[in-house]
Amino acid sequence: MAKVTVVGAGNVGATCANVLAFNEVADQIVMLDVKQGVSEGKAMDIMQTAQLLGFDSTVVGCTNDYAQTADSDVVVITSGIPRKPGMTREDLIGVNAGIVKSVAASILEFSPNAIIVVISNPMDTMTYLSLQSLGLPKNRIIGMGGMLDSSRFKYFLSQALGCNANEVEGMVIGGHGDTTMIPLIRLATYKGVPVSEFLTKEQMDEIVKSTMVGGATLTGLLGTSAWYAPGAAGAFVVESIIKNQKKMITSCVALDGEYGQNDICIGVPVIIGRNGVEQIVNIELNAEEKALFAASASAVRKTNDVLKEINML
Ligand code: 2OP
Repeated sequence: MAKVTVVGAGNVGATCANVLAFNEVADQIVMLDVKQGVSEGKAMDIMQTAQLLGFDSTVVGCTNDYAQTADSDVVVITSGIPRKPGMTREDLIGVNAGIVKSVAASILEFSPNAIIVVISNPMDTMTYLSLQSLGLPKNRIIGMGGMLDSSRFKYFLSQALGCNANEVEGMVIGGHGDTTMIPLIRLATYKGVPVSEFLTKEQMDEIVKSTMVGGATLTGLLGTSAWYAPGAAGAFVVESIIKNQKKMITSCVALDGEYGQNDICIGVPVIIGRNGVEQIVNIELNAEEKALFAASASAVRKTNDVLKEINML
């Protein structure tokens, strides 16, 4: 029997729980939120779709009662404030660092063996903070950003190619920031054929740009950050863990020399299974991609440094 907890029943957390239930990824899904009644209400709302959609998972909500999250196999942390138009993900660090640190500690108290998936922003830094403050083995902390960014990348590719997004492959590595993410256009394919066979340089540049500001574009339209794709991407990662699917998913993980980096959590292709990070996949980057990755790591490190300034580490 698999149990998953989603902390934070805001738009992203509730969508993640909804997708987990709909796809029957776990038998039991617990949503926890600090706002009285919100997770209980959203859990009840989701459960009232069970018969309409035909799923048998159960979703329960609770207000700050960590005992109900006990013995979860996977815990998704979405807590914190989302960005408003004009804000970067990095602007959220002051508020979200304290929240994520205390949530992670409370979770571990009741689920000492859980794999933790971090979605709260700035995600790379929140993943690093969780890893450093909890002192868990690095396979058990996974930041979710690359799956979402890759999904947006494939969406923009499919729009330009005039095909279904499922016909396209592509990945986004690096930090989960408007200026730090790296859509690997050189490796993107349409049915296994490099997209450069179908698209002009201008089109490809435009796709890369749109992907990088994909979250900001939605924040501008919605007045808050997006939730359908972020929630579904979180559920996708959880499914690969719970069902030991060993999918290759770009994820934010601790690097120990891989890609020339140390003491950082940043997005790289990873095999995700029942042990969390099963393997970091080393792909050969060209000189330009290597330089972009190094610059991305420097930017993420700069945000990580703020954790010390605000006494979070
Ligand atoms: C996004 O990119 C919420 O960071 C998330 O939409």
